[in-house]
Amino acid sequence: MILLTGVTGTVGRLVAERLATDEPVRLLSRDPRRIAALAGPRTEAVGGDFADPSSLAAALTGVRAAFLVTSDPLTPAHDEHFVAAARSAGVRHVVKLSARAVAEPDATDLITRWQRDNEELLRASGIEWTFLRPRAFMSNTLGWARAVRDEGVVRTVNGASRNATVDPRDIADTAVLSLTGTGHAGRAYPLTGPAAISSADQVAVLAALLERPLRCEDMTRDQAYQGLLARYPSPVADALMESAVRQRSGAKAGVEPTVETLLGRAAGAYRAWAHDHIQAFRPV
Ligand SMILES: NC(=O)c1ccc[n+]([C@@H]2O[C@H](COP(=O)([O-])OP(=O)(O)OC[C@H]3O[C@@H](n4cnc5c(N)ncnc54)[C@H](OP(=O)(O)O)[C@@H]3O)[C@@H](O)[C@H]2O)c1
Repeated sequence: MILLTGVTGTVGRLVAERLATDEPVRLLSRDPRRIAALAGPRTEAVGGDFADPSSLAAALTGVRAAFLVTSDPLTPAHDEHFVAAARSAGVRHVVKLSARAVAEPDATDLITRWQRDNEELLRASGIEWTFLRPRAFMSNTLGWARAVRDEGVVRTVNGASRNATVDPRDIADTAVLSLTGTGHAGRAYPLTGPAAISSADQVAVLAALLERPLRCEDMTRDQAYQGLLARYPSPVADALMESAVRQRSGAKAGVEPTVETLLGRAAGAYRAWAHDHIQAFRPV
């Protein structure tokens, strides 16, 4: 039995769609009705909450391998609960969605420290682990969709600075390989796209695909911070601002060969991702 978490989110959903295995699969959500459509003859949806250890104990019963996606850096207990329950249930292998910056000592923001601690927890548990360490997801640009549709303007932080963003489909393919293949225990996989690209470049790609002009405008530091505070608690907004400073210094431009090495094909480029998701940026 394989358990997938995060299946209503960006990467977990793609993993659930791709995982073709003879092994039964269990999908976990706080609201399993949301994932009923993903269930099938060998796939069941279960309710579970990282905040509720007893729900995790039930979800992990009989599980051999699990895909772990946690998303709240202010609640380290989520990973603690999951790892403790996985250990008690005798889970042999956990594939953990982490972050590229974990391996970069100068990254000391809250989100990176949380993911670093999560990795340490798993390492210390005795359970076999695989860490997927992606750079920023290309799909983060879906956050621009409304502004593109309504105004033709994208407001960014450091629009000219580059990031080797990764296609979430490549992360999902790597997760599937790690969950079903051999030789992935004890490995940490840095995952990037094939090139470092700036927000301004991404906006230009969208404009070309949409065949309409789009403008990319840099926000001031304060505008950017206020925008983050409207969406996140202040410690998370602070962490994202720190992360933006690292990007401006060039810390996120490095390209890794891992996707190509593991999957035997080139990592997806932003143009391909944008082509396949362009509908989200068109007027509704
Ligand atoms: N975005 C990036 O650029 C980026 C880059 C590097 C690393 N990452 C890492 O990627 C991870 C996020 O992945 P994602 O974007 O695919 O996820 P996401 O789209 O943010 O979705 C979050 C998932 O977590 C589940 N979830 C939230 N709270 C839960 C709880 N209390 N109990 C059980 N499930 C819960 C949600 O399921 P339900 O609501 O159905 O319960 C949902 O499926 C984070 O660890 C982040 O650090 C992101």
